[in-house]
Amino acid sequence: MKTLITRPARGLHGSLTVPGDKSISHRSLMIGAISHGMTTIQHFLPAADCLSTLTALQQVGVQITRQATTVQVQGRGLTGLIAPKKALQMGNAGTATRLLMGLLAGQAFDSTLIGDASLSQRPMARVSEPLQTMGAELTLTDGHLPVTIHGRPLQGTHYDMTVASAQVKSALILAALQAKTPSTIVEQLPTRDHTERLLNAFGAKITTAVDHRTITVQPQPQLQGQTVTVPGDLSSAAFFITAASIVPGSKITLKRVGLNPTRTGLLDVLARMGGKIEIERLQNPGEPLGNLTVTAAKLQPIDLTAADIPAVIDELPLVALLAATADGVSHISGAGELRVKETDRISTICTELRKLGVAITAQPDGFIIDGRQPWRLQTTQMDSHGDHRIGMMVAIAALRLTTSLQLAQATAINISYPTFFEDLRQLLPATEVLA
Ligand code: S3P
Repeated sequence: MKTLITRPARGLHGSLTVPGDKSISHRSLMIGAISHGMTTIQHFLPAADCLSTLTALQQVGVQITRQATTVQVQGRGLTGLIAPKKALQMGNAGTATRLLMGLLAGQAFDSTLIGDASLSQRPMARVSEPLQTMGAELTLTDGHLPVTIHGRPLQGTHYDMTVASAQVKSALILAALQAKTPSTIVEQLPTRDHTERLLNAFGAKITTAVDHRTITVQPQPQLQGQTVTVPGDLSSAAFFITAASIVPGSKITLKRVGLNPTRTGLLDVLARMGGKIEIERLQNPGEPLGNLTVTAAKLQPIDLTAADIPAVIDELPLVALLAATADGVSHISGAGELRVKETDRISTICTELRKLGVAITAQPDGFIIDGRQPWRLQTTQMDSHGDHRIGMMVAIAALRLTTSLQLAQATAINISYPTFFEDLRQLLPATEVLA
């Protein structure tokens, strides 16, 4: 049980460099593993999810050393991985699991992926079914983990995606690299493109059509190890962006944050809500990045529909929190994917915000929030439900209150942001820090 920090009278102030991007940390490890020569990853995210990827890759023969946030990966080439001695334990890591299903599908050995209780409930057929169109062979357990991948030669595919998911797209791209012929993948809506950008930086030939949805992968590239500097994770910065927006008197700067346009939905949402955010763009090859200065603001309600969702998918708990302080009714729809995240986030967002007295109604694919209703605390006993992003959303909501809250299962936050509470404290005047 963790006691959460409550309302800092003068708001949040100062500046912070957030830890490295989770999506890019996973991908840098995997792409380094199938390249030739050494890959050096700087500002790597040493959180539980990325460490699951690191350990799994070591189990398929990749030499990896890590000192704090610097990682060195000795690549084994596209076909050089070796059979693991036991099942690969993926913990809570959905991205790692799904991308590895693609990466391992074309290798010359069998491997089995297992995970924790939450990961074992998440759908995996969305990855195995498209992979099967390439000739891949995977055995699932009722559509879930444990999954056994029977590695075998693959052929190229043309696949029209049925879900907007960067994890599924990336699994297909990683498998397509190993195929005999080119592949084309067509997305319903554009999703994060870190896999495409990184692979091209390592020497692959992946092109995206002007529609931002049609991706062509040339097989059998000679990938060459690189030095990757991972940008700060916008999905982690998002907690402090939200905090500074909703806690009166705040003004903070977040430095060197990744600003890939497939990820910046929260910045657009906040601008539409009347939030105050200044962006200073910095020169960087590969992934755009910049410094963000956020000032507290009076917010207006927002309506989001399906096309808005992929670029803000992981920040929707925070959109709900922003909407809960806005002067009107917000409608979020087309976000059914929230039901199959680390928890059913439509349900866990509603449960936790209702405890604070927020007027939020669940919908099958989103929620409706009336921010005009003043919060009336129903209980001080909050819960992350084992979901890192729900735990951090609750910790940020607590900054609006004067009554102290307890957070159960707070350690779930280590899945993506082990230094979250230390970083939050850095943005608060020393006299205000209670926990
Ligand atoms: C991710 C893609 C998204 C996102 C997840 C990370 C990635 O999942 O929610 O946190 O790194 O590819 P989906 O692909 O399932 O939408």
